[in-house]
Amino acid sequence: MESIEEVIKLNRVVSEWKANNNTIALVPTMGSLHSGHIYLIKEAKKLASKTVVSIFVNPIQFGKGEDYQSYPSSIELDKKKLEKEEVDIVFAPDLKQLYPMGTDTDTRITVPQISEILCGQHRPGHFSGVATVVAKLLLTCKPGFALFGKKDYQQYLVIKRMVSDLLIPTSIIGLPTQREKDGLALSSRNKYLSEVERKIAPKIYLSLQKASEIICAGVSNFNNAKKALIVELEAYGMKVEYFELRRAADLALPTDDEKSFVILIAVWLGKARLIDNIIIEL
Ligand code: PAF
Repeated sequence: MESIEEVIKLNRVVSEWKANNNTIALVPTMGSLHSGHIYLIKEAKKLASKTVVSIFVNPIQFGKGEDYQSYPSSIELDKKKLEKEEVDIVFAPDLKQLYPMGTDTDTRITVPQISEILCGQHRPGHFSGVATVVAKLLLTCKPGFALFGKKDYQQYLVIKRMVSDLLIPTSIIGLPTQREKDGLALSSRNKYLSEVERKIAPKIYLSLQKASEIICAGVSNFNNAKKALIVELEAYGMKVEYFELRRAADLALPTDDEKSFVILIAVWLGKARLIDNIIIEL
């Protein structure tokens, strides 16, 4: 595995690979790698002859007072994990490489509407930060495939839309959320949970499963059930930011004849903001 920090060097390697008819899959990460990332990497290796994993904690997708400074980092351990998976390149640029002119007046990509709801409403500017850094990574690495976990379902749709609008020739692959045995979605932010909070956290997925069963019995039941499920979660000490039923394709409010749904949730549990979702096909 080669470790590359410079954009220009990655450009060079990628051009050589392409000249030799290789295909490239990129797995963008912010490091602190867990089994969810490893699953994406294993899938990436099935899709392409070369695999690149990027590690970059992107400051512009964090709002004021969010966890940018404290975001868990374990670069040496991450590199060992990537070596074991036989990744071809770990791309770990510093801030200057991806934002040569700084982050105050730099060019940003905005994907309207879908970026403004749900997580975007609670974290203004977040998805513009994500779209901007992912565009930079795609332009630098020029992969045929880029893989993302569907735990961040809204992020996945925002990136798909951005790539489609900007005519970027990369297929965006969304893969199912990986979970602990008790149902908790894998996330680097699970590290923020205390022992007690960790035991409570699986209730989030449990409430999504309950909501999903209720919807399968009749979509119109969701709103009443939602109130009771929020009360239950709050009784465990969680603060529910949103708990919403949306159209799976674009997160619009579902119409009466809708068949594909997603229920999305964001909660605060202690210091951790946790998100999760469940997809429902009727
Ligand atoms: O999902 C993440 O880890 C990040 O949002 C991403 C896609 C790597 C962009 O910084």
